[in-house]
Amino acid sequence: MKPLGVTVWFTGLSGAGKTSISQRVQEQLGEIYNTELLDGDLVRQTLTKGLGFSREDREENIRRIGFVAHLLTRNGVIVLVSAISPYQAIRQEIRQKIGSFIEVYVNAPLEICEQRDVKGLYRQARAGEIQQFTGIDDPYEVPLNPEITCYTAQESLEESVAKVTEYVLAKLHSSALTLPL
Ligand code: ADX
Repeated sequence: MKPLGVTVWFTGLSGAGKTSISQRVQEQLGEIYNTELLDGDLVRQTLTKGLGFSREDREENIRRIGFVAHLLTRNGVIVLVSAISPYQAIRQEIRQKIGSFIEVYVNAPLEICEQRDVKGLYRQARAGEIQQFTGIDDPYEVPLNPEITCYTAQESLEESVAKVTEYVLAKLHSSALTLPL
């Protein structure tokens, strides 16, 4: 029997911790399973190069990532996707298409993300040097029913990582996930 794949989709504000958590999860699960990480920042330099941050472009970005995630998932890979993916409807669309799907809401208050400002982009957005910045002058629609929520302002990176890996492993070892056609 073919092994089961799954897409683990990390959504949340810029600076919430999606990349850090997904990288650590990949390190851990990658020791035993075939994994791939599709990170927004990286994907935007290749697969979705040239796309901007309008609603239309973000949806196109997410659809392309979702397409690749689907191909990998149906071939038994654990796919980790890390992208702001601010729109509920498109996340839902991808979930339904892939079927074997776990949504992780990386939840940190905007104030905290802004304080961290790892890439200095919040400052630029506040200064009006970047437009359509998620959380500042562009929407983020909070997930309605995520399988997992990581509260990165309260819990440690290791706690968040453990939450995700334990959930994924439990799902893989149960028959709760079914391979999409
Ligand atoms: S998404 O909305 O289409 O899912 P994605 O995760 O791929 O976004 O890319 C977000 C990254 O692009 C951010 O982490 C940040 O580094 C950078 N970025 C540049 N401009 C913006 C913007 N206007 N809004 C959000 N992120 C931006």
